[in-house]
Amino acid sequence: MTPGETSHADTCAAIKATAMLITASTIATRRFRVISCRLIWSVSHVPARRKGRAAWRAANRGARTFMTCAGYPQMVSVARGPRSIFAGRLAPPATISASKIIGILRAARDKNSIMADSYLIRPITDDEYDGFRLVLQHAFHGGGDRENPPWRQQLFEIDRSLAAFDSARPDAGPVGATGIYTFGMAVPGGVLPVAGVTMVGVLPSHRRQGILRSIMRRQIADIAARGEEPIAALWASETPIYGRYGYGKATAHGYFRFGRGDGALDPHAPSDSALSLRLAEPAEVASELAKVYDAVLAGQPGFPTRSDAWWARMLHDPEGERHGFSPQRCVLAEHGSGIRGYALYAAQGRWDDTTGLPDGVLEIRELIAADPAAAAALWTDLLGRDLITSVLADHRPAEDPVLYQLLDARRARSNVTDGLWVRIIDLPAALARRSYACPVDAVLEVADELLPGNTGRWRLRASAPGGGPASEVSCERTDDPADVALDVRELGAAYLGGTRLGTLASAGLVTELRPGALGALSAAFTWDPAPWCPRVF
Ligand SMILES: CC(C)(COP(=O)(O)OP(=O)(O)OC[C@H]1O[C@@H](n2cnc3c(N)ncnc32)[C@H](O)[C@@H]1OP(=O)(O)O)[C@@H](O)C(=O)NCCC(=O)NCCS
Repeated sequence: MTPGETSHADTCAAIKATAMLITASTIATRRFRVISCRLIWSVSHVPARRKGRAAWRAANRGARTFMTCAGYPQMVSVARGPRSIFAGRLAPPATISASKIIGILRAARDKNSIMADSYLIRPITDDEYDGFRLVLQHAFHGGGDRENPPWRQQLFEIDRSLAAFDSARPDAGPVGATGIYTFGMAVPGGVLPVAGVTMVGVLPSHRRQGILRSIMRRQIADIAARGEEPIAALWASETPIYGRYGYGKATAHGYFRFGRGDGALDPHAPSDSALSLRLAEPAEVASELAKVYDAVLAGQPGFPTRSDAWWARMLHDPEGERHGFSPQRCVLAEHGSGIRGYALYAAQGRWDDTTGLPDGVLEIRELIAADPAAAAALWTDLLGRDLITSVLADHRPAEDPVLYQLLDARRARSNVTDGLWVRIIDLPAALARRSYACPVDAVLEVADELLPGNTGRWRLRASAPGGGPASEVSCERTDDPADVALDVRELGAAYLGGTRLGTLASAGLVTELRPGALGALSAAFTWDPAPWCPRVF
């Protein structure tokens, strides 16, 4: 059995319960398994499991089998139709009585009587990788990129992939997909292990049948069962997709578009005559870029940690993906003490044929600086390049400090949108492992439909023995009366310190139960600098 697989439960001796259920609405017999089965991989088996299913089976003979804990069992089946009656619904504990199962079924049937075939959701095997990528190419309208650079293999975690298979056509390959990157992420006051959710797609032929809903619920349960990452984070292709799964909008990002001559800095912007700029081949200075990035990451919530493979991905620049732009280039701001900032960018030299005037475009892909003077020097350079009439900068913090360095910030033509979405997976661990802007002692009443272990009242205490931000933190279950009530989605939104609980309360999404509690809690959660994630993962 493939790790995490929820089919073939009958081959697993440890399976405790299989139920045969009959639904009155469709007279369809529907079997679902109460418990998922997983194998724990040992690290030494990783190379073998990459060589294919047979090798993987051989390598893992004798691996430990365990059951998902009662809190997070999952069902296998999802129903087709506009709204599934089972889709990803958390299954009852293994000890559930038959009458309770029938009760759940009745409730589900009453809510929506559509019954349909089931999909299988499980991690892919090596030989299913091409089909997995094909799902994403169809979903994102991408080309048939056959290239497989080494970083892609290093970053793709096959054991954390999930794919949906149409059980009516199990050999036809995946119809839905997702994956996870395992990395760290800076949060207020530290760095946490984070599940970086990515590669989410469903074939156009199978969309709006509840497949994503089932994949998401299964994935969230898997992350919780793994027990290593207190939060999950993702970039949403479209804003309405992920809130229903408890993800909250945690960062606001700016997209800037400058015209020619729009980029003059205010005379009061900092400058440092000891700084100089140097053009460099990105690949040749990768380790220097990483030093700057890591220095900034230490104090910048939202920055994912970057391994060498991640840097290889950031600097990967195949000709086929340039779309008329130059190769990706790099400019460094340096000082006697070393590199203090860098920008990665590409440009497109264009001319207006009717006027003969230059009409070039320069795209800033990443501009990161360890101090304000280095940032100002890099912006001044890129906003003033000859022959360029538009400078585009994506994925900037909405409150980019450059907006305060510019002479005329309105000319950045800033467009603000959502960036990172955060899902609290392990509430007490997540809240206890970040710092707070000021001391706080409050009871939060939290609702979490998908992870009931997070639901309930939690006392958050944070103190600042040495003054400054509160770093001695505890978060424990309590029966005390609640001060503030909110959904886990709003907690995720506020977690990185950018989205204010007070604003969410003004939107009617957070409720103050004790006068004065909300302001104190909102102030404690808010963090400087505001969170920012410079690239989509
Ligand atoms: C987004 C996508 C994965 C959704 O998959 P799906 O299987 O069609 O989604 P589901 O049928 O499980 O939908 C679950 C719910 O989300 C809603 N939903 C799904 N996609 C949505 C979208 N793009 N915008 C708004 N709502 C959406 C559905 O209407 C449904 O709502 P309901 O519970 O009120 O009925 C799929 O449409 C897709 O592959 N899109 C292109 C690639 C993409 O954007 N991927 C996401 C990357 S972050």
